Formats: sequence, structure tokens, C-alpha cells
Amino acid sequence: MLQSQKGAALHVVSFSSRKGGSGKSTLAAHLSVFADRLGQPALLIDTDPQGSLAFWHELRAAETPVLVKCDHKEIAAVIADARREQVDWVFIDTPPHASAAIADAMRASDLIVIPLRPAVFDIAAVATTLEMAQAIGKPVLPVINAAPAKRIIGEPAVVHEARAALKGLGATAWAGQVTQRAAFGHALASGQAVNEFEPSSAAAKEMEALWATVQATVTGKPTKKGRK
Ligand SMILES: Nc1ncnc2c1ncn2[C@@H]1O[C@H](COP(=O)(O)OP(=O)(O)O)[C@@H](O)[C@H]1O
Ligand SMILES: [Mg+2]
Repeated sequence: MLQSQKGAALHVVSFSSRKGGSGKSTLAAHLSVFADRLGQPALLIDTDPQGSLAFWHELRAAETPVLVKCDHKEIAAVIADARREQVDWVFIDTPPHASAAIADAMRASDLIVIPLRPAVFDIAAVATTLEMAQAIGKPVLPVINAAPAKRIIGEPAVVHEARAALKGLGATAWAGQVTQRAAFGHALASGQAVNEFEPSSAAAKEMEALWATVQATVTGKPTKKGRK
């Protein structure tokens, strides 16, 4: 594991949504690679028994970011170890159907990323996740994922509607969107992130923008310049 040079504070981000297939594992994998490539050692924790993230990690040729697969009851102990090892970022992937696991991940987090597809059932599922985060008292960042591509004349109607529905639930979505793109599937299937697989792609730019927001939200500082 890379050692942090500066002993900065450890930041914890979890990915939660009661809906399977919304993009939790996809966003966790990507943001961990962005943190790691900027020289901020990152640890992935996979608490989903389905193990999609662990599967991606097995396919991965690069040694970092490191991944630990564990039960949600072990999250606090794994984070304590990460802190001792001067990890800068911990990203926790969660299962869709286990409330106890989601709650434990939320409690450990500085920010809860809630991916949602811009579709009615996904928005209904977000309401439950938002209520949980609010009860636990943690900030959230809903991220519209797998959206239709933006058009010259503006945002796709379904994305606009999803933002409005989130507003109705008292939450503000990330200003950007992650578009439905084949590059995500191709990158993940080769154990990579899109910025490694296709560095100058539109998919990579979207993820970089999301990482910039997550980093700024959690640290209160704008993104450091670094390698893409
Ligand atoms: N923006 C996207 N574009 C294309 N495919 C995506 C996108 N986001 C997720 N997927 C695909 O959708 C499936 C479900 O995503 P995943 O991250 O595993 O969801 P979750 O972890 O919430 O169940 C995966 O096959 C993933 O590759
Ligand atoms: Mg998953």
C-alpha cells in the first residue's frame, strides 16, 4: 500500500442505494482509482456479499487501490487499521437490501453518495436511503447515473425530472450527470476505471468532475492538480 506523505486526515465515503444496479459499485471503483492516482492512498471496503467490487478488483492488474472484503460489523475496525496505515480515502460499497450494513457504512462516513438512475423506481428507492442518512445525520450527494446523453439544447427530460423529484425529497443532486456509456462496462470488465481504459473519453471527464465534487465536498478544498 502506498504511504501518504503528509499524514492527512482520513476521509470516508460510502455508496448507498436500496436499488440494485444503480451504480454503487461502479462509482466506488472509479472514485477510488481517482483518489489513488492523485497520490492519496485509497482503500475499498466491499460489504456486499454479492462482491461485484471484489470481482472487479480481482480482474485488476494494478496493485492499488487495495480492497478489503468484510462484514459490515467489521467496518470500524478496518477503518481504524486504514488510519494507522495512513490511508487518505476509504470508499465503502454496500448491498442494496441489508439495512444494518447500510447503516453501519453511513455511520462511518463523511459523505454518502447515492447513485440513482433517472427512473421512477430508483427515485422511490432514494427516499428510503435519504431518510436513513438524515436519521444518522450524514451529508448526502445523490448522483444521477446511467443517464441519457446531454443534448445541445440542455438536459434530457428524465434527468431534469429526477432532479425535481429529489428536490421534492429535500435533496440536491450533483450538478453533473454520469451518462450511460459502454466505456464503463468495458473498463470495469478489464479491472480498470474509464480514465485508465480511455483517458480522454467523455466518460473519464464525467468521472473526473464527480471526483472533484466529492473531494471538495469532503475536504472543503478544491481538487488538487494531479495526474489524470
Ligand atoms: N453510467 C453507466 N453506463 C453504463 N453502464 C453502467 C453505468 N453505471 C453502471 N453501469 C452498469 O450497470 C450495472 C450495475 O451497476 P453497479 O455499479 O453494479 O450497480 P450497484 O452496485 O448499485 O448494484 C453494471 O453492469 C455496470 O457496469
Ligand atoms: Mg454493487
